[in-house]
Amino acid sequence: MSIDTAAARVESPVRSVAEFVQADAVVHFDGEFRRYAACRLGPMTHALHYGTGCFEGIRAYWSPPGGGLLLFRALEHYQRLHQSARILGMSVPLSAAALVELTRELLRRNRFETDAYIRPLVYKAGEEIGVRLTGVRDGFLVYSAPFGDYVDIHHGLRCMVSSWRRIDDCMAPARAKITGSYVNAALAKSEALDSGYDEAIMLGMDGHVSEGSAENLFLVRAGTLVTPAVSDNILEGITRATLLQLWSEDLGLPVVERSVDRSELYTADEVFLCGTGAQVSPVVAVDRRPVGSGAVGPYTARLQELYFDVVRGMVEKYREWCTPVD
Ligand SMILES: Cc1ncc(COP(=O)(O)O)c(C=O)c1O
Repeated sequence: MSIDTAAARVESPVRSVAEFVQADAVVHFDGEFRRYAACRLGPMTHALHYGTGCFEGIRAYWSPPGGGLLLFRALEHYQRLHQSARILGMSVPLSAAALVELTRELLRRNRFETDAYIRPLVYKAGEEIGVRLTGVRDGFLVYSAPFGDYVDIHHGLRCMVSSWRRIDDCMAPARAKITGSYVNAALAKSEALDSGYDEAIMLGMDGHVSEGSAENLFLVRAGTLVTPAVSDNILEGITRATLLQLWSEDLGLPVVERSVDRSELYTADEVFLCGTGAQVSPVVAVDRRPVGSGAVGPYTARLQELYFDVVRGMVEKYREWCTPVD
């Protein structure tokens, strides 16, 4: 697959998801840049029926003056896409580094002048009946659209411990970002929203805390940052890794990765969720019990501020995580 520079390009900057579709923005689909309306999937597409695909979610932050659009840890996201595909026995058409270049070109063509979200998808494109992974053709696309906050990051989320359990690695690999597995997250999130909460926290089959519906989870206990271990059926989040590093290197405080009990959610000083979409999202209540004082905690606020400085390219030490689009 090559990057086709002669193909589609939008005429004026696109500023919202609605404008993105209206403007018939540019998508990378089946090996070339195409306008959105020119991308077609057949009704029999395997991935549509069986959830046979894997994907990524990457953010680009609009950081003027001088910064332009900055992709955050795009290489690590594409490396994880390769790992997810490897687990499913699927093939990604380009190396992680080449996908970063492709994404820069996609963003240039869409002329975003706002924060954006990038969604690469490896999927079973074969139009055939039969549940399996082998022998079905793989497809690949990347789209990107303007994107703001995924959840409220300012006032604190009210979470419930979901009645749905997080899928176990021995059922469907939790460390792979598999499209079909997101039914598990969607059930938990919908239950939370329908019950008047903002977000769901999921336990694993052994009863330990796993993560949010689309976020990793952290607790602060007496200045120590605690988060479920990678063997607790979590997605090995890139934001999680980022925050662990910022906490220990920049705030100089201890971190522990270990199994977390449900009751620790009720006694923690602070709780927050994190992810590319959620960024750093304070949690102010779990199961209607206030977390700490019931307000956004001071450690979470400090970490959130540092995180936003880092993703907008304002911390020299971490500039290498930010890839300029232009
Ligand atoms: C289930 C799940 N856990 C955690 C995360 C956070 O991962 P990351 O920080 O790499 O976006 C996500 C978001 O992609 C997710 O979907």
